[in-house]
Amino acid sequence: MPRRSGVLGCAPARLTHLPRGATGSRRLEMTSRTLSVEKAKRFYDSFGAAQNAQAFYEDDAVSALLERAALDNAKLVFEFGSGTGRVAERLFRERMGESSRYRGVDVSETMVALARKRLAPWNERAEVILTDGSTALPARDGEADRFISTFVFDLLSEDAIRSVLMEAHRILTPGGLLCLANATPGNGTLGAMVSSALLCVNRVSPSVLGGCRPITVAPFLNGASWRLVHREVMRSWGISSEVLIAERV
Ligand SMILES: C[S@@+](CC[C@H](N)C(=O)[O-])C[C@H]1O[C@@H](n2cnc3c(N)ncnc32)[C@H](O)[C@@H]1O
Repeated sequence: MPRRSGVLGCAPARLTHLPRGATGSRRLEMTSRTLSVEKAKRFYDSFGAAQNAQAFYEDDAVSALLERAALDNAKLVFEFGSGTGRVAERLFRERMGESSRYRGVDVSETMVALARKRLAPWNERAEVILTDGSTALPARDGEADRFISTFVFDLLSEDAIRSVLMEAHRILTPGGLLCLANATPGNGTLGAMVSSALLCVNRVSPSVLGGCRPITVAPFLNGASWRLVHREVMRSWGISSEVLIAERV
């Protein structure tokens, strides 16, 4: 059973949040390292289907996210960083209505090929697009009503996180939902120890973990653009994940 803790509350380990600007938004000063887009692409091109093995600690967070994302009446679900298509397959099998459409994007050719194959049974309603890793996303203003990204923000730089959130805001219709899950600093002794270990590995060699490190995304959400609907931190196999749903204002 996953351990759930700190709904709307999480103490970041070894990360410092500093006030930034008159809006009160906060700046995450990370002592961690990120991969360049080219290195991330190379990593995931060679990692490929091995990504599915991460499910042992990510699935509980993904399930918690999908439970709250009100997907049955979604018209277009946009996914950033679709990976092998494992979340998209769950959307089609378990969550979306019969007329819901899906569009995923990913920077890795290997991942896009795997996701397209996996989603072939729904190819009339699913598309997976290869991007150059830029945060300019292929969707019209207000075209989507759900924006999902699982275990991708934790490998992005602060600037990229902000850019993707701006794009998510542009793509989503007012009232649409931003649905995110990412590795996050853990609570309690075990959670904090595991977070510290992950950060140590990240600092020595970010590519070992595919660029991932524990981060807290909630402070990036500007209150004028997003209304936080749900946030929780849950732990599975010692690794903590932040699950976050926000409504586009
Ligand atoms: C840890 S995997 C997560 C995949 C999937 N969301 C899941 O939960 O199984 C991260 C994914 O993000 C993709 N990715 C990394 N940087 C990206 C970028 N700048 N634009 C699009 N996709 C990116 C990687 O290629 C990889 O497929």
